[in-house]
Order: sequence, then C-alpha cells, then structure tokens
Amino acid sequence: MVNSETTELPSVIENPKMTVIGTGYLGATHAICMAVLGFDVLGVDVDPKKIEALASGKVPFFEPGLPEKLREALDSGRLRFTTDFDEAAEFGDVHFICVGTPQAPGSYAANLTYVDSAFSELAKRITRKSLLIGKSTVPIGTAERLTKLVQEISPLGTELELAWNPEFLREGFAVEDTLHPDRLVFGVTSEWAEAQLREAFKPILDDGTPVVVADLATAELVKVAANSFLATKISYINAMAEVCEATGADVNLLATALGYDDRIGSRFLKPGLGFGGGCLPKDIRAFKYRAEELGVGHAVAFLGEVDAINIRRRVRTVDLVRELAGGSLEGVRVAALGAAFKPNSDDVRDAPALDVARMLYLEGATVIVYDPEANDNAHRAYPDLDFADSMEAALAGADVVALLTEWDEFRAADPAVIGELVTHKRVVDGRHALDTTAYRAAGWEYRALGRPVESRSVALLEDDRDSVAL
Ligand SMILES: NC(=O)c1ccc[n+]([C@@H]2O[C@H](COP(=O)([O-])OP(=O)(O)OC[C@H]3O[C@@H](n4cnc5c(N)ncnc54)[C@H](O)[C@@H]3O)[C@@H](O)[C@H]2O)c1
Repeated sequence: MVNSETTELPSVIENPKMTVIGTGYLGATHAICMAVLGFDVLGVDVDPKKIEALASGKVPFFEPGLPEKLREALDSGRLRFTTDFDEAAEFGDVHFICVGTPQAPGSYAANLTYVDSAFSELAKRITRKSLLIGKSTVPIGTAERLTKLVQEISPLGTELELAWNPEFLREGFAVEDTLHPDRLVFGVTSEWAEAQLREAFKPILDDGTPVVVADLATAELVKVAANSFLATKISYINAMAEVCEATGADVNLLATALGYDDRIGSRFLKPGLGFGGGCLPKDIRAFKYRAEELGVGHAVAFLGEVDAINIRRRVRTVDLVRELAGGSLEGVRVAALGAAFKPNSDDVRDAPALDVARMLYLEGATVIVYDPEANDNAHRAYPDLDFADSMEAALAGADVVALLTEWDEFRAADPAVIGELVTHKRVVDGRHALDTTAYRAAGWEYRALGRPVESRSVALLEDDRDSVAL
C-alpha cells in the first residue's frame, strides 16, 4: 500500500488484485489480458461450465489470439477462475463487473437483473476499501442507482465506491482492442477512484493511451453514443443503397467516393446486410428507450429509423434470393454461407445472417447453413435449419447461394470451382465481399444490395485496423 499525495485521500493500492465478474466475450478477454499485463486476476461467473473450461485452458467461444493469451496467463500463475463470490470479495482490491445486459423480453429496455445481482452479491460480502468498476453497457443513470444500492447493503457503507469504465472492444479484435485501446474512459465520483483506476490500467496508460476522466453519466453515455454513431453510419450507407435500388445507381461506387472524403471516412461505411450481434442492436434500442424515459426521446428518435433501415436490408436480401430463384422460394435449395453476425466470431446474437436464413426457411426454402465457427451456436438458436460441415457440402446442389457473413474462406472461393458444385450458378452477395466480375465471368448470375444487375467489381476501401491476422 502507498499513500497518495493528498493526505485526505484514502490509500491507493498499487498493482491491485482484480476480480472480473462475468467471463463472457468481454469478461474473459478482460481477465486474460489483465493477467497477461501482470496483474493477479480472479475470473468469476455463475456458469460453472464456463469457469471449468477457462480454468482448463479452453476459451468457450471463438476469438482469434485469445486461446494463446489464456495459456500464457494460466502458465504465469496470475489467473484463476471461480464461481465463489466469497472468494471474489476476499481476493479483489478492484472488481470489474462484465455481466450481460441483454434486451429485456418484450421490451426495448436493457435487462439489468444480471448487473444488479453481480453488484449486490459482491457489495454485501466486501469488508475492506475496494472499488467496484462497471464495464457492462448500461442505460444512463444506472451507475448512480447502483452506487446507492451497494452503499446501502455493504458493511462498508459509503466507503465502498463505484466507477464506470465502458468497454469498446470489438469481437474478432478483442485482444488487440483490450491491450491497445483507442482510449480509456473513467467515470468516477472521487479523486481516489480515479487514482485507483489509473493504477489498474497503469501498463495501458504507460503506453500513451488517452484517458477521458468523466462523471458517471457521461461515461455511460460515451458507450451508447459511440455505438449509436457507428450504427447510424452503417444504416446511412444502407439507406443510400435503397435509393440506389430505385435509381440504378451503384452503392459501392457511392461508398468509395464518399469514403475518400476524410471528413466522412470509409470505415463502417459498408453497404450490405447491416449490423447485428450482442451490442449494436440492443444498445441503440435501450438508448432510445432510456432517452424517452428521461424526456428527451425526440433527440434520438432517428435511432428508430436506423434500426428500421437495418432490418429492411434483411428483408431485401430475401427478396433478392427469391428474385434469383424465379419468384418463389418454395422447395428452393439455398446455401446460406455464414451464420455469425460478423466474420472472426462465433457470436450469433441478433445475427443478420441467421435472420435471413430463418426468413428463407419460413418461405419454404430448404436452407443449408455453413459457418466456419458458428454452426453449433446457430444450430442451438435455430434447430429447424439444416447445417453442413463444410462450404462444399452446403453448396452441393444449391439453387441459390447467399453470402451472409464475409469470412475469408468464402471470399477466397474460386467461382469456377464452386460453380461445379451447385445446381444453378446464382449468388446473392449480402456483404459486397465477392469479386463481381470474376463471378460473372464464371457464368454466375450475381446480385448485391444497392447495386445494378449488371454491376462490375468495385472493391470497397479497406482499413488495416479492420483486418485480423489469424
Ligand atoms: N461482446 C462485446 O463485444 C462487448 C463489447 C463491449 C461491451 N460489451 C458489453 O459487455 C457486457 C457483457 O457482454 P458479453 O458479450 O461479454 O456477454 P456474455 O453473455 O458473453 O457474458 C456475460 C457473462 O456474465 C455471466 N453472468 C451473468 N450473471 C452473472 C452474475 N450475477 N455473476 C457473475 N456472472 C454472471 C454469464 O454467465 C456470462 O458468462 C454487456 O453489457 C455488453 O453490452 C460487450
């Protein structure tokens, strides 16, 4: 323990021991990376299977580079896992809460029961000065409410402090984003909490990572504002795709020309099937819901349109498949390439790919899904769909191919070679990921959202920061 410079400030613990509560996509990554950075870390979850897997060196989801980091962390002896909250309360100087905040059933609001439970279970057990740090994405005002809640039930009373440190990692890039984030945001109510957070992130701050120190409400808002901006950028270009479809313009040419403008930029200006996953859709809905509760619903009413544009792209993709199939999907065999909400992830939460596969199935198509990593999760979510073990098996005998998640394996496929496997060479490129000209040259009928029937190859601008080395 060291005393900080201001005499009134309680002691700040150097090299604090950490717990990470909730070891899903966010929490497991955070726990593993913090141990790799040199901290003693205890990962905690209510799911014993997840804890058992992680403790035995197995990452229970697909994330490039994370299994190697888990091995490194376990071998260092600095990372352990438990389901025991008594052990967690005893062990940690700082506690990161990373539990889920999914969309509540039948509502656009966030379901906060997991967050409330994790904070309460810790608070009633903690008996020494510690910092509870929320990382989950929550509605504005949650941290203030939780502060009152934990201080009421904790033996420490107001000595137990709470901070919010929103997380911006992207699945598929989670290790890099955790070790080298663009910025850190600390939502705090005391100098002590800020100083303690600075100790907890010392190696990352020493790297020159910018930090924004804010009040609790701003810290909560940064996260949902960032996700709303990104969702809006995607839906903006997809709205333009709708206009292209009505006019014969080509959205790929449009996106390329717009992307060269530095003020606009090409990142996230990607037309196609749109966004999904465990964050963007539920975050913009919960933000809109919370803004309405706060009496400022009008300020973010546009998020309803952002959501609607996004959903319409899924419906339009089904239209394209139906058009290519000759007007009806009844009995049509569709190879659905991809199920995860994006490549390099096995996450199928609110996945556009699976939604399209489901809609095709409901219209009478026989849908054969193949995803390099997400077949198991997708099968659990939609047991009625058929699943293939390989791209080739999915393509065999297909009347229409629908590219729904832009995995490298699908991008790299030779249109001449895979053309031999299908019954009809018809492809809907839901992600603008295929070489249009090469597909046409190999005899395929090629269709993509927001592009004219006779479009040619237009490579969208790529950014190194959006590619993952496997
Ligand atoms: N996945 C991402 O890329 C990402 C990025 C930034 C922020 N977030 C936010 O992080 C939070 C977690 O997201 P996720 O994708 O990791 O979810 P997840 O569902 O993968 O993981 C949540 C974990 O919390 C555990 N849990 C639930 N209640 C618990 C409790 N009371 N005590 C201990 N563990 C408990 C669950 O068993 C699960 O393992 C969400 O608020 C999400 O919006 C996620």
